[in-house]
Amino acid sequence: MLIKWETKFETGINRIDEQHKQLVAIMNKLHENIIIQKDGSLVNDLLMDLKIYTIDHFTTEEKMLKKYNYPAEKEHIEEHQKFINKVSENLFDVSSANLAKGYRLVEFLKDWITDHVLMHDMEYVTHFKKHHTFLAEIQTDIL
Ligand SMILES: [Fe+2]
Ligand SMILES: [Fe+2]
Repeated sequence: MLIKWETKFETGINRIDEQHKQLVAIMNKLHENIIIQKDGSLVNDLLMDLKIYTIDHFTTEEKMLKKYNYPAEKEHIEEHQKFINKVSENLFDVSSANLAKGYRLVEFLKDWITDHVLMHDMEYVTHFKKHHTFLAEIQTDIL
């Protein structure tokens, strides 16, 4: 397993936590498939899923940050954009025929999600705690 879900990753905002868990699950599957080197097309499907779910998650998060006037919103969006660019670059490039690149990608994904959630996402959690008190009441279904 590439990433083990731990309570330290939990933001306390239900939908965000569900989305983060989903992303971790896709990254673990990707890692597994790169290791067993079974089916290159499955790797591509998983990378596609990763991109779709990531964009969906970032959209949720960015709308939430805007709604609650998060002061570091712009910097946070830039971090998301960097990630999307990186995943897009590698999207059709990693296959069972290119194992070394696959390993580098999953290592990158692991470091990125760990650092991003623990550092950047937790920063907005700290901010919300200061200004909104109840994380359970934070709205994430913003149109
Ligand atoms: Fe984020
Ligand atoms: Fe996030």
